[in-house]
Amino acid sequence: MRRVRGDIVVLGAGGKIGPTLAVMAARASREAGVQRRVYAVSRFTRRSAREYLEASGVEVVEADLLEESEWADLPEAPNVLYLAGKKFGTKGQEPLTWVTNAYTPALLAKRYRSSRIVFVSTAQVYDFVHVSTGGATEEGPINPIGEYAMSRLGGERVFQHFASKLGVQAIILRLCYAYELRYGVPLDVALKVWRGEPVSLRVAYVNVIWQGDFSNIALRALERCANSPEVVNVSGPETVSIEWMAREFGRMLGREPVLQGPREDTALLVNTAKCCALFGYPRVPLRKGMEWVAHWVEIGGPTYNAPTHYDVRTGEF
Ligand SMILES: NC(=O)c1ccc[n+]([C@@H]2O[C@H](COP(=O)([O-])OP(=O)(O)OC[C@H]3O[C@@H](n4cnc5c(N)ncnc54)[C@H](OP(=O)(O)O)[C@@H]3O)[C@@H](O)[C@H]2O)c1
Repeated sequence: MRRVRGDIVVLGAGGKIGPTLAVMAARASREAGVQRRVYAVSRFTRRSAREYLEASGVEVVEADLLEESEWADLPEAPNVLYLAGKKFGTKGQEPLTWVTNAYTPALLAKRYRSSRIVFVSTAQVYDFVHVSTGGATEEGPINPIGEYAMSRLGGERVFQHFASKLGVQAIILRLCYAYELRYGVPLDVALKVWRGEPVSLRVAYVNVIWQGDFSNIALRALERCANSPEVVNVSGPETVSIEWMAREFGRMLGREPVLQGPREDTALLVNTAKCCALFGYPRVPLRKGMEWVAHWVEIGGPTYNAPTHYDVRTGEF
């Protein structure tokens, strides 16, 4: 945050990642002794996100990124992180999903053509791969399953087109399952174990990363923005077995997990070797994050009530 020059805008800042990422940027800047404004742009459907940001020294800008006319009034800044997207509720609202995920990236590249842009996409653009492969590398196999995933690949391609045409400095991060105490695959599994509900092994392997580690990487990625944006998979380094996770939570929570087969050997998995080489290993080891999540479940901590549906194989969300 000391090396990166200028203000920061986080677009789509009202969701699960945006608020803590924007606050991390503001706090890190303060601690680095850097004077800068951090703006959080969203519709703020969740009002508590807005209040949290305002209380933490982030400047809140309410805007609907689907309204072209609103882009011109967004704050000027040399650093932009793009987090807006639509996943859940895609089924039945396919046009809204496509316009959000595949059209707004064109507006983004045009409006912020002179800025560095960290474009957050998803690992859903890949195909399911056999667990023995160690996950999809940035080269593929690309094969988005379902309209949500297709629209995200569309967004990447549209953004790449305009970034190249307009000479935008950018990087594309394909995130695979961030988690923290209020949501994520570990919380989904821990809650099932706690409640005695079956844990599906239909998707039996995942990659996950502590949300704070993702935010840390996303902010440091500003320094890697360049013409012809590179693509980097972002997640934890380990291929996590859902069965192992359920059994660990069972031990931590004093419950016997109920595992539900059949177990499939292909899953949405990413190879994070490039990410780890560029940004280092995550600071929060998986086992530590799981202990925090187990404790959270035990004390009945609040959640977003937003299951990841990590076990969906049809691409329907
Ligand atoms: N969390 C994960 O594990 C994960 C994994 C892979 C990829 N990703 C991607 O990473 C990004 C951030 O993740 P997240 O978990 O924070 O997603 P999220 O909870 O869905 O947040 C995205 C936010 O974008 C905002 N947004 C959507 N359409 C908008 C519009 N037209 N105008 C203004 N704001 C709009 C929404 O906030 P408002 O309602 O306030 O507008 C929404 O809450 C998303 O693109 C997501 O798909 C996340």
